Amino acid sequence: MDHYPALKHLHLTLVTLSVAGFVLRWLAVLRGAAWPLQRGWRIGTAALDTLLLASGAALWVLLGLHPVHQPWLGVKLLWLLGYIVCGSLALKRAPTPGGKRLAGLAALSCVALMAATALTHHPMPWSAS
Ligand code: HEM
Repeated sequence: MDHYPALKHLHLTLVTLSVAGFVLRWLAVLRGAAWPLQRGWRIGTAALDTLLLASGAALWVLLGLHPVHQPWLGVKLLWLLGYIVCGSLALKRAPTPGGKRLAGLAALSCVALMAATALTHHPMPWSAS
């Protein structure tokens, strides 16, 4: 447990960097910029997201959690899936600018729900007391 505070700090730093990187690229895509989809940016942000996933997985091993026994963690991973799918639509796959805008907002909603789920340890954070 000695490493828990440092690991949680690292996790939260990676969350901040990942979300900031996504917002920056999404806003640039909406303004018609090409750089967000260039190789360097794609590789850099994928590496950051891999580290984020690894830090989350390390926390869950350290705390002895299991996504089935701790439903909040399972639900958090479902929101992660939503973040990945909506993020990909927002940056590239949605065919229209309106679609990209909507997908970006949906991706950010998934992030907010992930944070709320983690903070409340509740699969439905809006109903946590
Ligand atoms: C954008 C993605 C993510 C966001 C916004 C996020 C948000 C957070 C926040 C705010 C906390 C701190 C909770 C607290 O202070 O008690 C946290 C902790 C945690 N996160 Fe994440 N996280 C993300 C990704 C992940 C992933 C991918 C995993 C699993 C693979 C994960 C697993 C955990 C675990 C196990 C904890 C520790 C909870 C505790 O201390 O009780 N997270 N996360």
